[in-house]
Amino acid sequence: MSHIRTETKDRIARIELDRADKKNAITAEMYQAMADALAAAEADPQVRVVLFHGKPDCFTAGNDLKDFLQKPPSGGDSPVFQFLRGLSTAAKPIIAAVAGPAVGIGTTMLLHCDFVYASPSARFQMPFVSLGLVPEAASSLLLPMVAGYQRAAELLLLGKPFTAEKAFAAGIVTEIVPDADLIAHALAAAAGIAALPPSSVRMTKALMKTRYAPTVVEAMGSEGEKFRAQLASAEAKEAMTAFFEKRKPDFSQF
Ligand code: COA
Repeated sequence: MSHIRTETKDRIARIELDRADKKNAITAEMYQAMADALAAAEADPQVRVVLFHGKPDCFTAGNDLKDFLQKPPSGGDSPVFQFLRGLSTAAKPIIAAVAGPAVGIGTTMLLHCDFVYASPSARFQMPFVSLGLVPEAASSLLLPMVAGYQRAAELLLLGKPFTAEKAFAAGIVTEIVPDADLIAHALAAAAGIAALPPSSVRMTKALMKTRYAPTVVEAMGSEGEKFRAQLASAEAKEAMTAFFEKRKPDFSQF
Protein backbone atom coordinates (compact mmCIF):
# COMPACT_ATOMS: atom_id res chain seq x y z
CA MET A 1 0.00 0.00 0.00
CA SER A 2 2.02 3.01 -1.18
CA HIS A 3 -0.74 5.62 -0.68
CA ILE A 4 0.18 7.06 -4.07
CA ARG A 5 -2.34 6.74 -6.89
CA THR A 6 -1.31 7.19 -10.50
CA GLU A 7 -3.29 7.45 -13.70
CA THR A 8 -2.29 8.29 -17.25
CA LYS A 9 -4.98 9.63 -19.55
CA ASP A 10 -5.05 12.10 -22.45
CA ARG A 11 -1.24 12.52 -22.27
CA ILE A 12 -1.46 13.66 -18.64
CA ALA A 13 0.14 11.59 -15.83
CA ARG A 14 -1.67 12.25 -12.55
CA ILE A 15 0.13 11.50 -9.28
CA GLU A 16 -2.16 11.71 -6.27
CA LEU A 17 -1.19 11.62 -2.58
CA ASP A 18 -3.74 9.38 -0.90
CA ARG A 19 -3.20 9.01 2.84
CA ALA A 20 -6.05 11.11 4.19
CA ASP A 21 -6.01 9.72 7.76
CA LYS A 22 -2.47 11.08 8.26
CA LYS A 23 -3.03 14.29 6.28
CA ASN A 24 -1.09 12.80 3.37
CA ALA A 25 2.14 12.76 5.43
CA ILE A 26 4.78 11.25 3.14
CA THR A 27 6.59 8.05 4.12
CA ALA A 28 9.74 6.64 2.50
CA GLU A 29 7.52 4.20 0.55
CA MET A 30 5.44 7.11 -0.77
CA TYR A 31 8.57 9.05 -1.85
CA GLN A 32 9.76 5.93 -3.67
CA ALA A 33 6.38 5.49 -5.38
CA MET A 34 6.37 9.16 -6.45
CA ALA A 35 9.97 8.95 -7.71
CA ASP A 36 9.07 5.81 -9.70
CA ALA A 37 5.87 7.38 -11.07
CA LEU A 38 7.78 10.48 -12.16
CA ALA A 39 10.49 8.37 -13.84
CA ALA A 40 7.79 6.33 -15.61
CA ALA A 41 6.04 9.50 -16.82
CA GLU A 42 9.34 10.90 -18.12
CA ALA A 43 10.03 7.64 -20.00
CA ASP A 44 6.49 7.22 -21.41
CA PRO A 45 6.22 8.82 -24.87
CA GLN A 46 2.44 9.04 -24.36
CA VAL A 47 2.91 11.46 -21.43
CA ARG A 48 3.45 15.17 -22.07
CA VAL A 49 2.77 16.67 -18.65
CA VAL A 50 2.56 15.57 -15.00
CA LEU A 51 -0.03 16.72 -12.45
CA PHE A 52 0.52 16.34 -8.69
CA HIS A 53 -2.40 16.75 -6.32
CA GLY A 54 -3.65 15.63 -2.95
CA LYS A 55 -7.12 15.37 -1.45
CA PRO A 56 -9.73 18.15 -1.79
CA ASP A 57 -8.92 19.30 1.77
CA CYS A 58 -5.22 18.42 2.05
CA PHE A 59 -2.18 18.51 -0.21
CA THR A 60 0.30 17.05 2.29
CA ALA A 61 1.45 17.48 5.91
CA GLY A 62 5.00 16.95 4.62
CA ASN A 63 7.46 14.29 5.62
CA ASP A 64 6.06 11.66 7.99
CA LEU A 65 7.48 12.74 11.36
CA LYS A 66 7.53 9.13 12.65
CA ASP A 67 9.78 8.25 9.71
CA PHE A 68 12.02 11.21 10.58
CA LEU A 69 12.38 9.81 14.12
CA GLN A 70 12.56 6.08 13.33
CA LYS A 71 14.09 5.74 9.85
CA PRO A 72 15.55 9.07 8.73
CA PRO A 73 16.81 9.40 5.13
CA SER A 74 20.33 8.01 4.97
CA GLY A 75 21.90 9.67 1.95
CA GLY A 76 21.77 10.72 -1.68
CA ASP A 77 20.02 7.54 -2.83
CA SER A 78 17.24 7.61 -0.24
CA PRO A 79 13.68 7.75 -1.65
CA VAL A 80 13.20 11.43 -0.76
CA PHE A 81 16.35 12.42 -2.66
CA GLN A 82 15.38 10.22 -5.62
CA PHE A 83 12.05 12.02 -5.68
CA LEU A 84 13.59 15.49 -5.41
CA ARG A 85 16.20 14.72 -8.06
CA GLY A 86 13.48 13.48 -10.41
CA LEU A 87 11.33 16.53 -9.75
CA SER A 88 14.12 19.07 -10.20
CA THR A 89 15.47 17.48 -13.40
CA ALA A 90 12.18 16.50 -15.09
CA ALA A 91 12.16 17.42 -18.77
CA LYS A 92 8.35 17.42 -18.99
CA PRO A 93 6.29 20.19 -17.40
CA ILE A 94 4.96 19.58 -13.91
CA ILE A 95 1.77 21.10 -12.53
CA ALA A 96 0.70 21.06 -8.88
CA ALA A 97 -2.83 21.65 -7.54
CA VAL A 98 -2.82 22.55 -3.85
CA ALA A 99 -5.73 22.66 -1.40
CA GLY A 100 -5.51 22.59 2.40
CA PRO A 101 -2.19 22.05 4.25
CA ALA A 102 1.00 22.01 2.17
CA VAL A 103 3.68 21.64 4.84
CA GLY A 104 7.45 21.22 4.51
CA ILE A 105 8.19 19.43 1.26
CA GLY A 106 4.52 20.13 0.40
CA THR A 107 5.64 23.73 -0.12
CA THR A 108 9.27 23.29 -1.17
CA MET A 109 8.45 20.79 -3.94
CA LEU A 110 6.32 23.51 -5.56
CA LEU A 111 9.47 25.55 -6.24
CA HIS A 112 10.38 22.90 -8.85
CA CYS A 113 6.96 22.81 -10.53
CA ASP A 114 6.12 24.80 -13.65
CA PHE A 115 2.56 25.83 -12.76
CA VAL A 116 1.17 25.87 -9.21
CA TYR A 117 -2.57 26.32 -8.71
CA ALA A 118 -3.78 26.85 -5.16
CA SER A 119 -7.25 27.22 -3.71
CA PRO A 120 -8.12 29.73 -0.96
CA SER A 121 -8.09 26.81 1.53
CA ALA A 122 -4.37 26.19 0.90
CA ARG A 123 -2.11 26.70 3.94
CA PHE A 124 1.58 26.67 3.13
CA GLN A 125 4.29 26.23 5.75
CA MET A 126 8.01 25.51 5.92
CA PRO A 127 8.53 24.75 9.63
CA PHE A 128 12.07 23.42 9.28
CA VAL A 129 13.64 25.68 11.90
CA SER A 130 10.86 25.07 14.45
CA LEU A 131 11.42 21.32 13.92
CA GLY A 132 15.14 21.73 14.67
CA LEU A 133 15.96 21.18 10.98
CA VAL A 134 17.15 23.24 8.00
CA PRO A 135 15.47 23.85 4.62
CA GLU A 136 15.55 21.15 1.91
CA ALA A 137 14.74 20.68 -1.79
CA ALA A 138 17.07 23.62 -2.62
CA SER A 139 14.50 25.95 -1.04
CA SER A 140 17.29 27.93 0.64
CA LEU A 141 18.37 28.86 -2.90
CA LEU A 142 15.09 28.91 -4.83
CA LEU A 143 12.86 30.72 -2.33
CA PRO A 144 15.09 33.81 -2.05
CA MET A 145 15.31 33.72 -5.88
CA VAL A 146 11.54 33.78 -6.43
CA ALA A 147 10.40 35.68 -3.35
CA GLY A 148 13.35 37.99 -2.56
CA TYR A 149 15.53 37.57 0.53
CA GLN A 150 13.36 39.29 3.17
CA ARG A 151 10.19 37.41 2.25
CA ALA A 152 12.11 34.12 2.11
CA ALA A 153 13.79 34.83 5.45
CA GLU A 154 10.43 35.36 7.15
CA LEU A 155 8.92 32.20 5.66
CA LEU A 156 11.96 29.99 6.34
CA LEU A 157 13.14 31.33 9.71
CA LEU A 158 9.77 31.79 11.42
CA GLY A 159 8.15 28.89 9.56
CA LYS A 160 4.58 30.06 10.17
CA PRO A 161 1.64 28.95 8.01
CA PHE A 162 0.71 31.34 5.20
CA THR A 163 -2.19 31.82 2.83
CA ALA A 164 -2.56 31.31 -0.92
CA GLU A 165 -2.52 35.13 -1.32
CA LYS A 166 0.82 35.34 0.48
CA ALA A 167 2.19 32.42 -1.56
CA PHE A 168 1.01 34.16 -4.74
CA ALA A 169 2.71 37.40 -3.67
CA ALA A 170 5.90 35.44 -2.91
CA GLY A 171 5.90 33.93 -6.41
CA ILE A 172 5.31 30.34 -5.22
CA VAL A 173 1.79 30.15 -6.70
CA THR A 174 0.83 30.81 -10.33
CA GLU A 175 -2.87 31.41 -9.75
CA ILE A 176 -5.49 31.15 -7.01
CA VAL A 177 -8.49 29.07 -8.11
CA PRO A 178 -11.73 28.36 -6.18
CA ASP A 179 -11.67 25.02 -4.34
CA ALA A 180 -14.50 23.56 -6.43
CA ASP A 181 -12.66 24.30 -9.70
CA LEU A 182 -9.10 23.44 -8.64
CA ILE A 183 -8.59 20.04 -10.27
CA ALA A 184 -10.60 20.89 -13.39
CA HIS A 185 -8.55 24.08 -13.80
CA ALA A 186 -5.25 22.21 -13.37
CA LEU A 187 -6.39 19.52 -15.82
CA ALA A 188 -7.38 22.17 -18.37
CA ALA A 189 -3.92 23.76 -18.04
CA ALA A 190 -2.36 20.31 -18.44
CA ALA A 191 -4.47 19.66 -21.55
CA GLY A 192 -3.32 23.02 -22.93
CA ILE A 193 0.34 22.07 -22.45
CA ALA A 194 -0.27 18.58 -23.87
CA ALA A 195 -1.67 20.11 -27.06
CA LEU A 196 1.46 22.21 -27.72
CA PRO A 197 4.47 21.05 -29.79
CA PRO A 198 6.20 18.75 -27.25
CA SER A 199 9.83 19.34 -28.28
CA SER A 200 9.38 23.09 -28.15
CA VAL A 201 7.78 22.84 -24.68
CA ARG A 202 10.62 20.72 -23.33
CA MET A 203 13.35 22.85 -24.89
CA THR A 204 11.80 26.01 -23.47
CA LYS A 205 11.61 24.47 -20.00
CA ALA A 206 15.22 23.25 -20.30
CA LEU A 207 16.39 26.72 -21.40
CA MET A 208 14.82 28.21 -18.27
CA LYS A 209 16.09 25.52 -15.89
CA THR A 210 19.49 24.22 -17.01
CA ARG A 211 21.39 27.44 -16.26
CA TYR A 212 20.61 27.00 -12.55
CA ALA A 213 20.71 23.19 -12.46
CA PRO A 214 24.28 22.85 -11.06
CA THR A 215 23.50 25.37 -8.30
CA VAL A 216 20.31 23.49 -7.43
CA VAL A 217 22.27 20.22 -7.14
CA GLU A 218 24.87 21.93 -4.96
CA ALA A 219 22.18 23.48 -2.73
CA MET A 220 20.40 20.14 -2.28
CA GLY A 221 23.70 18.50 -1.37
CA SER A 222 24.73 21.04 1.27
CA GLU A 223 21.19 21.27 2.70
CA GLY A 224 21.03 17.44 2.81
CA GLU A 225 24.22 17.15 4.86
CA LYS A 226 23.03 19.68 7.45
CA PHE A 227 19.50 18.26 7.41
CA ARG A 228 20.70 14.74 8.22
CA ALA A 229 22.96 16.06 11.00
CA GLN A 230 20.10 18.08 12.51
CA LEU A 231 17.71 15.10 12.28
CA ALA A 232 19.95 13.33 14.79
CA SER A 233 20.03 16.39 17.09
CA ALA A 234 18.37 16.76 20.47
CA GLU A 235 16.58 19.89 19.14
CA ALA A 236 14.82 17.88 16.42
CA LYS A 237 13.95 15.02 18.81
CA GLU A 238 12.34 17.47 21.23
CA ALA A 239 10.38 19.20 18.41
CA MET A 240 9.03 15.98 16.90
CA THR A 241 8.31 14.23 20.19
CA ALA A 242 6.36 17.34 21.26
CA PHE A 243 4.23 17.10 18.06
CA PHE A 244 3.15 13.53 18.83
CA GLU A 245 2.67 14.35 22.53
CA LYS A 246 0.47 17.27 21.42
CA ARG A 247 2.43 19.82 23.50
CA LYS A 248 4.60 22.87 22.83
CA PRO A 249 8.29 22.01 22.34
CA ASP A 250 10.75 23.43 24.90
CA PHE A 251 14.06 24.60 23.41
CA SER A 252 15.19 26.47 26.54
CA GLN A 253 17.83 23.85 27.49
CA PHE A 254 19.76 24.15 24.19
N1 COA B 1 3.82 12.96 10.14
C1 COA B 1 3.16 11.96 10.75
N2 COA B 1 1.86 12.04 11.12
C2 COA B 1 1.23 13.20 10.85
C3 COA B 1 1.86 14.29 10.23
C4 COA B 1 3.22 14.13 9.86
N3 COA B 1 3.89 15.10 9.22
N4 COA B 1 0.97 15.30 10.11
C5 COA B 1 -0.17 14.86 10.63
N5 COA B 1 -0.03 13.60 11.09
C6 COA B 1 -1.03 12.75 11.72
C7 COA B 1 -1.32 13.23 13.14
O1 COA B 1 -0.38 12.66 14.06
C8 COA B 1 -2.74 12.71 13.31
O2 COA B 1 -2.66 11.32 13.57
P1 COA B 1 -3.64 10.63 14.68
O3 COA B 1 -5.02 10.83 14.10
O4 COA B 1 -3.19 9.21 14.71
O5 COA B 1 -3.41 11.42 15.97
C9 COA B 1 -3.36 12.86 11.93
O6 COA B 1 -2.27 12.91 11.02
C10 COA B 1 -4.17 14.12 11.76
O7 COA B 1 -3.35 15.23 12.09
P2 COA B 1 -3.85 16.47 12.96
O8 COA B 1 -2.64 17.22 13.43
O9 COA B 1 -4.83 16.02 13.98
O10 COA B 1 -4.63 17.32 11.82
P3 COA B 1 -4.97 18.88 11.81
O11 COA B 1 -5.95 19.07 10.72
O12 COA B 1 -5.29 19.38 13.18
O13 COA B 1 -3.57 19.59 11.38
C11 COA B 1 -1.57 19.82 10.10
C12 COA B 1 -3.02 19.36 10.10
C13 COA B 1 -0.95 19.43 8.76
C14 COA B 1 -1.52 21.37 10.22
C15 COA B 1 -0.81 19.19 11.28
O14 COA B 1 -1.08 17.80 11.28
C16 COA B 1 0.68 19.37 11.27
O15 COA B 1 1.18 20.45 11.57
N6 COA B 1 1.42 18.29 10.94
C17 COA B 1 2.85 18.27 11.03
C18 COA B 1 3.46 18.98 9.86
C19 COA B 1 4.96 18.91 9.85
O16 COA B 1 5.62 19.37 10.75
N7 COA B 1 5.53 18.26 8.81
C20 COA B 1 6.93 18.08 8.62
C21 COA B 1 7.48 19.18 7.80
S1 COA B 1 9.23 19.01 7.54
